[in-house]
Amino acid sequence: MAHNQPIDRTALRAAYRMEENACSSERLAEAAPASAVHGDAAELAAKLIEGARKRKASGIDAFLQQFGLDTEEGIALMCLAEALLRVPDAATADLLIKDKIGEIDWGEHLGESSSTFVNAATFSLMLTGEVLDQPEEHQRGMGATLKRTMGRLGEPVIRKATLQAMRILGGQFVFGRDIDEALKRAAPERKQGLTHSFDMLGEAAMTYDDAARYAASYRGALKRLAKEAQANAGEDSVARSPGISVKLSALHPKYDDLHAEQAVRDLVPLVRELAELARDADIHFTVDAEEAERLELSLDIIEALVGDDSLFTRKDGSQWRGFGMALQAYQKRAVPLCDWAGKLARRNGRMLFVRLVKGAYWDSEIKVSQVGGYVDYPVFTRKRGTDVSYLACASRLFAHSDVIRPAFATHNAYTIAAVKCLAASASSSEAVGHKYEFQRLHGMGEEVYETLAELEGHTRTPVRIYAPVGGHKELLAYLVRRLLENGANTSFVNRMADSEIPVSEMTGDPVAELAAMEPRRNPAIPLPAHIFGERVNSAGIDISDPSLRTMWAMRQAEMADVQWEAAPTYAADGAEPKAHSIISPQNAADQVGTCYYASAADIAEGAARAAA
Ligand code: FAD
Ligand code: 2OP
Repeated sequence: MAHNQPIDRTALRAAYRMEENACSSERLAEAAPASAVHGDAAELAAKLIEGARKRKASGIDAFLQQFGLDTEEGIALMCLAEALLRVPDAATADLLIKDKIGEIDWGEHLGESSSTFVNAATFSLMLTGEVLDQPEEHQRGMGATLKRTMGRLGEPVIRKATLQAMRILGGQFVFGRDIDEALKRAAPERKQGLTHSFDMLGEAAMTYDDAARYAASYRGALKRLAKEAQANAGEDSVARSPGISVKLSALHPKYDDLHAEQAVRDLVPLVRELAELARDADIHFTVDAEEAERLELSLDIIEALVGDDSLFTRKDGSQWRGFGMALQAYQKRAVPLCDWAGKLARRNGRMLFVRLVKGAYWDSEIKVSQVGGYVDYPVFTRKRGTDVSYLACASRLFAHSDVIRPAFATHNAYTIAAVKCLAASASSSEAVGHKYEFQRLHGMGEEVYETLAELEGHTRTPVRIYAPVGGHKELLAYLVRRLLENGANTSFVNRMADSEIPVSEMTGDPVAELAAMEPRRNPAIPLPAHIFGERVNSAGIDISDPSLRTMWAMRQAEMADVQWEAAPTYAADGAEPKAHSIISPQNAADQVGTCYYASAADIAEGAARAAA
């Protein structure tokens, strides 16, 4: 049955840039069920960490721990990784390498790590640095002959070596260059009972040609996966077969609010066509979560697709249960979004696949809000806020388990343990056997999940690996997110790689810890209005917020016939200015915290109108 009335988004919109202390208080209450199982969760998490630390780590964790983002070296590597592979000419590449790694004393790190991989990488960086760093006094610890040799080889060799190093770094996170190679590589893992979600690398298409290329790559991969899934046909094929993850920003160059109508009009049929291939193969098809500003747009598309009965009806008349979306716990909207997904599934009689992640765009979310001069951030500013929100969402998803099959994507041993304990307690209290799975990214979390499998024995929770497929050119944005994630000293994988951090420091109850924080927003991250200290930042209109956008459009319409004249905003004698001006005295106070046009009453009215 077609439903014309959209699912109400009022709660979601109210939480978009909600004041953080208030939002955290709500999430703390909603995460109480997780806190109630903290004892068991901490015990299991400790076993997972101890087991994982005993296993042989891949090396990349240790590398990023040594060169974390709190070190000059880590930042230099990050800049190189971000830029080097797309610098087209050799001269600029040489300058970039020299600028980023020439001045750094890599020798300080040599031998610091217990990992051979890290020490070998450090040595190469040191050689490169020493050769680039010409002055005698800076050349340390390297034999004169070796120095001369390296010097003679010159910049082309260094450039090639550095490019290769960046490729190796990237290679840690890419699964295969194309879907055939990826499936081949996946075979041994599949034999161990693991499944995959392939991500055809590509995002933020800049042109229609880019978008068409990415769409073709998804189409090709889905057709190839269909053959693979046949082997799993039968009950619960969706859970057992490899599936696909799609970034909508890859499929349209104008997937943004300014082109919302056009993007929705073009993307609904295109995504439908791709999803049909997944439906016919009976595999999962998950829409990745991207920047917060794109969320409403993605919901418009998801809502249109989920409302389409024919998309969900398989040839044998059964219902396809593989359509899904990712949901980011770091967003203040995450809990209301879980409810939105539950309502959407229930109203349409669907089973949706929902992947809960913490969120990979945190740094850019903070920056975008500061540049925009928005009222607040869409994400929590304390990591503990995100951890608590994740647990609150997990409870909420289990509460919707009649219509939602959750997938918990995390590498954090405590989060994994808390989800397991929460599932067990929710199942026993509601007499529902919850079906869910864990997910990890390729190149991360392997040791933790191996330990979990060992502890679980025959009653394993299914684990799926997110496996990016593509070339280096498409990898960069993804790689930078992984370096930011792994290199941050608050990140679980980074802390686990540091054997000096005691297990007990990684198994605390996030709910109790956030509750004890005062204030609950991070004082080191000022609100966008206050990033310049004394001088108030200029305020902007967040047009991705429908409440504001509606009022903005109304005000624009009202002003369409106004004859504009330039005039001082305030007359010297304090009298009203003669002509209309963008900032009127009445709403000047609103600049701090809202936007030029909108007072609190305006926003409330905008929210009501947008909902209607
Ligand atoms: P933890 O170390 O426990 O958490 C790290 C996370 O905490 C950061 O990534 C960030 O979200 C948050 N955080 C860090 N510092 C702060 C702070 N100061 N304030 C508030 N929050 C903070 N991400 C997406 O955005 N969209 C996707 O579609 C998506 N798909 C994924 C699929 C899979 C299978 C997996 C495993 C991950 C996916 N991710 C996606 C990436 C995911 O968001 C990160 O891997 C995840 O945040 C890491 O969390 P963790 O629990 O492993 O580690
Ligand atoms: C990302 O692309 C995994 O979707 C997540 O960072």
